[in-house]
Amino acid sequence: METERIVSAWKRPDDWDVDRSLRPRTLAEYIGQDKVKEHLRLFITAAKQRGEALDHVLLYGPPGLGKTSLAHIIAAEMGVGIHVTSGPAIERQGDLVAILTSIQAKDVIFIDEIHRLSRQVEEVLYPAMEDGVVDIVIGKGPGARSVRIDLPPFTLVGATTRAGMLTSPLRDRFGMISRLELYSVEDLQAIVLRAAGILNIEIEHGGAEEIAKRSRGTPRVANRLLKRVRDYAQVRANNRISHGVAREALSLFEIDDNGLDPMDRRILHTIHQVFGGGPVGVDSLSAVIGEEAATIEDVYEPFLLQLGLVQRTARGRCLTRLGYEYLGIQPPEADGEQR
Ligand SMILES: Nc1ncnc2c1ncn2[C@@H]1O[C@H](COP(=O)(O)OP(=O)(O)OP(=O)(O)O)[C@@H](O)[C@H]1O
Ligand SMILES: [Mg+2]
Repeated sequence: METERIVSAWKRPDDWDVDRSLRPRTLAEYIGQDKVKEHLRLFITAAKQRGEALDHVLLYGPPGLGKTSLAHIIAAEMGVGIHVTSGPAIERQGDLVAILTSIQAKDVIFIDEIHRLSRQVEEVLYPAMEDGVVDIVIGKGPGARSVRIDLPPFTLVGATTRAGMLTSPLRDRFGMISRLELYSVEDLQAIVLRAAGILNIEIEHGGAEEIAKRSRGTPRVANRLLKRVRDYAQVRANNRISHGVAREALSLFEIDDNGLDPMDRRILHTIHQVFGGGPVGVDSLSAVIGEEAATIEDVYEPFLLQLGLVQRTARGRCLTRLGYEYLGIQPPEADGEQR
């Protein structure tokens, strides 16, 4: 199951504590994502100079890249409170109205998984985001009347792994839309070293680099691998994570030099063996592999695409030349070239 994979980017129950203790608190502590940080810094400084609430911000990108962390950082840098909720948690319009009317001026309302808001709830959000008002209906039947309430100024921070699933009227109401990218190995290495410092783990730079390389561009995976490698080092290597110790531990977990785990390899093999190298649609792939299509798209694919092992075309996913090389298979001639 997806949640049991050590390199899964989805949050797991045992990540809660670590996520909290390792979460960067300020923009300066937040490693990587330089463009996003620069934009945010500019917006925040400008809003603070004017004494206004920050404009609404949408953060999107694969799981575990630091969207929730950034939402908290935005509130901290603005010096305002944050109210955390999520798309599925807001069931009725009244739930959202209750949040909107109970905040302090300029506070941040963070809605995680914002693509899962119901249409009705979204309709409350539109005038709230645009004009700072909500209309509530009092009473029932012919005697019902609508009352308009002015809201304190607020900043909505939305996070989603799937910007494509947001309705365009909602998307249009964000002043800033930022896509988080997978992290470079250097950034992940810095993240591992920072986490090791906080958790009091003895680690050499080479060990941190080895973990970084196999973290699928994802800080949450990097932190989780660090914990597992620490366990290994504690039992077998005097508590110190050297380059060699990291390598031994990671190969025990069946994560290869590219950071691919057994499920990634299975996806590549399936595209080759079952679908002749592609193109194959994500639903067919999902049916054969027994993993949800959304998980394949959000968790596995971004990394396989980043490594250039798979390519996405209008007709589906194809193995690339590199993908064949990875499998140790001669790519098909001619049309293999175009792939
Ligand atoms: N830029 C960063 N610098 C340092 N650590 C980071 C950074 N981004 C994320 N992390 C670490 O990764 C963990 C996961 O980040 P976070 O929960 O913010 O991701 P997310 O994008 O909200 O994930 P999800 O989509 O699952 O909600 C954090 O606890 C933090 O330790
Ligand atoms: Mg999150």
